[in-house]
Amino acid sequence: MRNMGLLNQVGGRRILVSFLLSSVMLMDAVSGIGVNWGTQATHPLPPSTVVRMLKDNGFDKVKLFDADSKILSALANSGIQVMVGIPNDMLASLANSVQVAENWVAKNVSSHVSSNGVDIRYVAVGNEPFLSTFNGTFLGTTLPALQNIQSALIKAGLSTKVKVTVPLNADVYQSASNLPSEGDFRTDIHDLMLQIVKFLSDNGGPFTVNIYPFISLYNDPNFPIDFAFFDNASSPINDNGRVYENVFDANYDTLVWALEKNGYGNLSIIVGEIGWPTDGDKNANIKSAQLFNQGFMTRVNAGKGTPMRAGPIDAYLFSLIDEDAKSIQPGNFERHWGLFYFDGQPKYQLNLNGRNGLVAAKDVRYLARKWCVMSPSASLDDPQVAPSVSYACQNADCTSLGYGTSCGNLDGRGNISYAFNSYYQINNQLNSACKFPNLSVITTTNPSAGDCQFRIMIKTDTTANAAGETRVVSQTIHLVGLGAFALMFLFTVL
Ligand SMILES: *[C@@H]1O[C@H](CO)[C@@H](O)[C@H](O)[C@H]1NC(C)=O
Ligand SMILES: *[C@@H]1O[C@H](CO)[C@@H](O)[C@H](O)[C@H]1NC(C)=O
Ligand SMILES: *[C@@H]1O[C@H](CO)[C@@H](O)[C@H](O)[C@H]1NC(C)=O
Ligand SMILES: *[C@@H]1O[C@H](CO)[C@@H](O)[C@H](O)[C@H]1NC(C)=O
Ligand SMILES: *[C@@H]1O[C@H](CO)[C@@H](O)[C@H](O)[C@H]1NC(C)=O
Ligand SMILES: *[C@@H]1O[C@H](CO)[C@@H](O)[C@H](O)[C@H]1NC(C)=O
Repeated sequence: MRNMGLLNQVGGRRILVSFLLSSVMLMDAVSGIGVNWGTQATHPLPPSTVVRMLKDNGFDKVKLFDADSKILSALANSGIQVMVGIPNDMLASLANSVQVAENWVAKNVSSHVSSNGVDIRYVAVGNEPFLSTFNGTFLGTTLPALQNIQSALIKAGLSTKVKVTVPLNADVYQSASNLPSEGDFRTDIHDLMLQIVKFLSDNGGPFTVNIYPFISLYNDPNFPIDFAFFDNASSPINDNGRVYENVFDANYDTLVWALEKNGYGNLSIIVGEIGWPTDGDKNANIKSAQLFNQGFMTRVNAGKGTPMRAGPIDAYLFSLIDEDAKSIQPGNFERHWGLFYFDGQPKYQLNLNGRNGLVAAKDVRYLARKWCVMSPSASLDDPQVAPSVSYACQNADCTSLGYGTSCGNLDGRGNISYAFNSYYQINNQLNSACKFPNLSVITTTNPSAGDCQFRIMIKTDTTANAAGETRVVSQTIHLVGLGAFALMFLFTVL
């Protein structure tokens, strides 16, 4: 989930409250750039391939959403610093039992640090647990879980090296006006936020915040687009002499003010997620993603902070690779945050760490060059079309179809072919996955045109071992909310 509430609306002017991080702990100078590595994909690249990508591209740090032992093993002796994560659904059990927390730390931190040489620096307890869509579910368990994990780290002798934090959405703080200097924690969770901040401060843990200018734009069509990008605002905000050219700085400094106002002005801040998606919405495209991420990286590379915190920003880009099995409840863009496509191919050039360009994944293996498309002899009026497309989209990925997306200009037949092909590829090109009744046919002619790519799936260890048509296709795809999308799709196709 992304944070959905980046803006404070005041007197018709909106300010963004999102963004970056700067290390206030001056002795611990922040260097380099991090990236988020999520794994909600039907065909994830092998961990060793991804670790090679991280190194080839000069990432110094990686943030995970859980503590998968295969991934941690691949990171062993890589020189890459790691933030491991605890999913929200584990918070209750960790809050209720020190023993559960000790077991978690033993299995998911201690063993990797000591015997495996994994450079774990942080444990992220929960992921945006106070997002309003969770209806307060995790308000009672986040702090106790944080405390129990910290106790477990102390007991394991790791608390000097490994710090705790909680990645929070940027709407845990707000400004009563459009000015960062009016920033404070949200009134309904103010006391809880202070307890968490005090605990982090007492234990040397950073405040981690996810900042998304894209969501500001997505949620508000009147949001001034130039304020979403860097140093390019037509009407900057002047906050008592501090000038804000972009929503990131304004958002970040709203947090700095909130911390300062409550006595924690020196707490270090990590930007846990920052990025821009490339598809699934009219504002999500390669050009904007490149503009935003390069603007941000130029900032990071220059060691330039915000008006309130001049020092370098400590941040993790969101994200490394597209994830085709993410929930699209926040929006169709949700599967397109990667700097790289699902197969590890860079989407655009980006200068990280003074390097030029992104380096593709090595030794990626693809399925055959064939596609499933609508049969030339099939009719758009065939009554089987609607249920077939609906089925394909519910079980595969149609988020590149729709207004302003990469395949938004396809005609009706193109739309149907796109849906069929997505289903066919996600099901590893099984013949049985291109048997839409009298409607589909397998072709070796690439139907891609321009920006609209009909992709060929990659091989995974599972697909390699499961050649043959007898296998029941049981690729587990967690598509939340796709039903609604499929209906919308059908509505426009028919
Ligand atoms: C370690 O982390 C994994 C992945 O998040 C989780 O499934 C597992 O339950 C954790 N182990 C313990 C002992 O808590
Ligand atoms: C939050 O509440 C809404 C409305 O009552 C409900 O639809 C949604 O499922 C709830 N979400 C969670 C995570 O409980
Ligand atoms: C400034 O913002 C506009 C969007 O309003 C964008 O098209 C343009 O490329 C930006 N220029 C720079 C240098 O960021
Ligand atoms: C913050 O750090 C500065 C410089 O290290 C120090 O002078 C100041 O007292 C600190 N403030 C707080 C609230 O700890
Ligand atoms: C193709 O699908 C898209 C997305 O649903 C829709 O906007 C477009 O109108 C469709 N095109 C045709 C010709 O049906
Ligand atoms: C496919 O078409 C053939 C001949 O046009 C017809 O006999 C058959 O019933 C159709 N099959 C389906 C599943 O619609």
